[in-house]
This record gives sequence, structure tokens and C-alpha cells, in this order.
Amino acid sequence: MTHTASSRTLLVVSHPVRGSHTWRVAETLQELLEASGGVVEIADLHAEGFDPTITAEDLLHYAGEAPVPKGIRREHERLERQDAVIMVAPMYWWNVPALLKGWIDRVFTNGWAFGHGQAADSKAQLPFARGGFVLLTSGSVADLDRHGYNASIATLLPYGVLSYCGRPEAPLLYLEESEAELTPEKANHWRASLTGFLSALGVGTEISLTQ
Ligand SMILES: Cc1cc2nc3c(=O)[nH]c(=O)nc-3n(C[C@H](O)[C@H](O)[C@H](O)COP(=O)(O)O)c2cc1C
Repeated sequence: MTHTASSRTLLVVSHPVRGSHTWRVAETLQELLEASGGVVEIADLHAEGFDPTITAEDLLHYAGEAPVPKGIRREHERLERQDAVIMVAPMYWWNVPALLKGWIDRVFTNGWAFGHGQAADSKAQLPFARGGFVLLTSGSVADLDRHGYNASIATLLPYGVLSYCGRPEAPLLYLEESEAELTPEKANHWRASLTGFLSALGVGTEISLTQ
């Protein structure tokens, strides 16, 4: 029997100001996904008050000496109901903001997102099928290339995080000149880039489930 189900996507947004370019991008992604029948949830890390500081309890769990901390288990449950996860953030110091970095540190746990040490045999990998990053940069991709930042970011984030956790096809999109006014032309350009990003991610359309 074949039936279709809406794809479920979590947008993990790291920006304190609604109305910022970052939030405009998250809203556009939501609109595009919903327009193609997808179901979207938003993790607003600032509004939710996520604490990015790793704890002693987190490290005991990392070492295999304690269960997953309760708050982190709730984050796991939210991720376990997704087909895709997109992290949306401004670029800070050629990386994701500290809040999002801390979310990854604490939530992508050993034995759940990857297997290391005692968990090496667990074959753990991220529960959602597809993941990617959308980063806003005040410069241009040419600037990122010129200084080697592009290669560094592509190694650290899609490869170092998502591929390491079993999701090798992880697109990374930069939206350039993010401090300039968002003119209608630029908004259209960003929308087209986001559409391309979603198609590289393989979400945004109905997925078929065959039983
Ligand atoms: C602390 C901080 C660090 C930043 N580092 C970078 C950077 O490394 N590269 C870059 O292109 N832009 C950098 N920027 C610029 C931001 O990426 C830019 O202000 C943001 O994308 C604008 O989008 P927003 O309106 O959503 O905040 C930085 C901004 C701040 C506040």
C-alpha cells in the first residue's frame, strides 16, 4: 500500500529579534514549506530560553555514566518527529552564534547523534533524514572564498556536524549582504535561493511512504 504523508521540518532559529533579516528568512522558509504541504515547527532558541552552557550532567552522559538530562531528552523528542531540520542564523565570527553552537553541543549527544567511546558500537545517528544550514553573512560569498572562510565553514558545519552524525547530504546556503536593506528585488533573490536550498535538501514536497 502506498500513502503520502506531509514532510515535517523543524526550523531552529538563533536570533533574539523578530523582524530581523534572520527571522524574515525563517518565515520565508516556513511559507515555502507550508505552501508545498509540509508541516513546520519552529525552535526559537532565544524565546525558549535554551541554556547553551554545557553542564556536568551533560558530560557524565557523554562519558556513559548518566542518562540523558531531562531537558535534552525533550529536545531529542522534538527532533525525533522531524523529517528535516534546518538551522537558520546570522554568521558570527565565521561560525554559528554561540547559542546555536551550544544547542548542538548539548543536544547532539553521544549514543544518540553519534557513537563515541563506550557508545562506539551503537551506530547512533541523527533521527531526521535531512539537515542543513542557512547562514546570513554581511559580506559576500566571494569574500568568504577569498579568505578561506567558506572552506572552513563547510568543513565545520555540514561535514563536521551533520555528516559526522550520519547525514552526509547536508546543504549549506549563505545569504549575502545581510546588513543591507531587504529590497523587494533582494527578497525575491533570497526566496529563489531558499527554494533551491529546499530542493537540495529534498524537502518541501509530499513524501511517499510505501508499506
Ligand atoms: C557578534 C557579531 C559577529 C559577526 N561576525 C560576522 C562574521 O564573521 N561574518 C559576517 O559575514 N558577518 C558577521 N556579522 C554580521 C552579521 O552576520 C549580520 O549583522 C547579520 O547577518 C544581519 O542579519 P540580522 O538582521 O538577522 O541580524 C557579525 C555580527 C555580530 C553582531
